[in-house]
Amino acid sequence: MGSDAHSESGLLIQPLYDGSALEDFDADAKLGAPGQFPFTRGVYPSMYTGRSWTMRQYAGFGTAKESNERYHELVSAGTGGLSVAFDLPTQMGYDSDEPVAQGEVGKVGVAIDSIEDMRTLLKGLPLDKVSTSMTINAPASTLLLLYQLVAAEQGIAGNQLTGTIQNDVLKEYIARGTYIYPPQQSLRLISDIFAYCRQEIPRWNTISISGYHMAEAGASPMQEIAFALTNAKEYVRTAIAAGLDVDDFAPRLSFFFVARTTLLEEIAKFRATRRIWARIMRDEFKARSPKSQMLRFHTQTAGVQLTAQQPEVNLVRVALQGLGAVLGGTQSLHTNSYDEAIALPTQKAARLALRTQQVIAYETDVTKTVDPFAGSYVMESMTDDLEAAALELIQAVEDRGGAVAAIEQGFQKSEIERSAYRIAQEIDHHERTVVGVNKFVLDEEEPYEPLRVDPQIEIDQCERLAILRKERDNDAVQRALGAVRAAGQGANNVLLPMREALRLRATVGEVSHALRDVWGAYVPHDTF
Ligand code: 3HC
Repeated sequence: MGSDAHSESGLLIQPLYDGSALEDFDADAKLGAPGQFPFTRGVYPSMYTGRSWTMRQYAGFGTAKESNERYHELVSAGTGGLSVAFDLPTQMGYDSDEPVAQGEVGKVGVAIDSIEDMRTLLKGLPLDKVSTSMTINAPASTLLLLYQLVAAEQGIAGNQLTGTIQNDVLKEYIARGTYIYPPQQSLRLISDIFAYCRQEIPRWNTISISGYHMAEAGASPMQEIAFALTNAKEYVRTAIAAGLDVDDFAPRLSFFFVARTTLLEEIAKFRATRRIWARIMRDEFKARSPKSQMLRFHTQTAGVQLTAQQPEVNLVRVALQGLGAVLGGTQSLHTNSYDEAIALPTQKAARLALRTQQVIAYETDVTKTVDPFAGSYVMESMTDDLEAAALELIQAVEDRGGAVAAIEQGFQKSEIERSAYRIAQEIDHHERTVVGVNKFVLDEEEPYEPLRVDPQIEIDQCERLAILRKERDNDAVQRALGAVRAAGQGANNVLLPMREALRLRATVGEVSHALRDVWGAYVPHDTF
């Protein structure tokens, strides 16, 4: 918690708000009706009175078979949408049998090397009924094409598919680091994806522009909004420069934010972000379609606020964080498992995380009315204050030449590191209480048996790859990879030759290397 009188964003929180806070408050201009510009109150007229948010639990580990089993468990436990976690080699565009992958195969997510793994991952799942999020960035196009190829084998056409690829590489240069190519080539690939999906998979959300990971790296709510929205502006500018009409791709942009335990500021954050984005899209990019102006987002509760000490206390944190996301109007929600600060979530912990959402959805009354905090002295004041602070930081990024230029100057990274340092100092100096960590601690932590990843996974995965490389038509694969390189060097959309190579059983690593060959791999110069 920031110092008592200040919010996480460093803004003043009055001990008491009264009518004077809303004296000249123009509700029509600032709020509008739910589902109406500027969407402050939510993106749909009925919000949860019409349809609940999607309970979308991020899951995936080990082999495609094990993850497929977990997805079937989650679907039968009532989850509304799937959310695929990939292991680090897949996220970085390497194959499981590459030296760099050793020790990481199947660890933080599922290992997907080829169409065969994707086939196993999706086995028996109703792809025309379930929406699937894939948390994949630099190789997002490759995984999306594998998904489309496997759906096509099941007789499901691209226009029946719904889901999301995260595909937000700019935030990877700022936080987390799963980038491959230099920024300009990454932006070109992302606008190729926008164009491809408009033709082939029109209901697919082509990007999930994320503030989450920057928040997890220490960004305050105000920084989270400003850096995510300036990344978003860069994607819009790139797609328009590539000749796309803003209303052709903007309706399928989506966003992803964190929900911290400080729920008042988080609700204000979500409301302010919708209003800022609506005005940017209408006034700056001249978007005419309301679907281009509405900011639809997924939320994940704050992983960085989970504690390894007294892990059950995380159940309470996640419940409060999930409540804040719902009161802020999220479209899709992942609630963290209480044991995630220690290891991969156990099945029981994963079920409890989903049950937390179900209690909010079915046992509270917060879904019975839209945007319940509207008109609240504190909420409207905090929404206004956050909006003003975020707009200032957005301008600071734009003054540096926009998100990519600012990234190359190290601006966002250094701002976030400063914020992370402040938080760490406050905890160390007991100015910020973390229950169980610097206050209300136990003399002796109770024993906890974490879930371990079986090393046999890596061996099995590499054996499957060796068989695949032997059985496929390698001449045809090499020709198809040559076509990917040629498209990467030219101006044609690279996804079409990529899809053919993947259909012939080229691997995720081989397709990524084909583009590394022509675009190079990004190496951040030491900016400070
Ligand atoms: N009235 C009318 N229509 C409504 C409605 C209402 N009240 N509520 C929903 N709908 C409609 C919508 O219009 C939509 O229809 P359409 O597709 O024809 O437009 C349909 O119902 C589904 O609604 P949403 O699109 O709002 O909900 P989804 O769940 O399908 O999509 C999303 C939500 C945010 C737009 C989408 O991008 C999404 O699912 N994102 C998920 C991203 C995700 O899970 N990321 C995980 C990241 S984990 C990570 O990064 C790693 C780790 O380190 C954190």
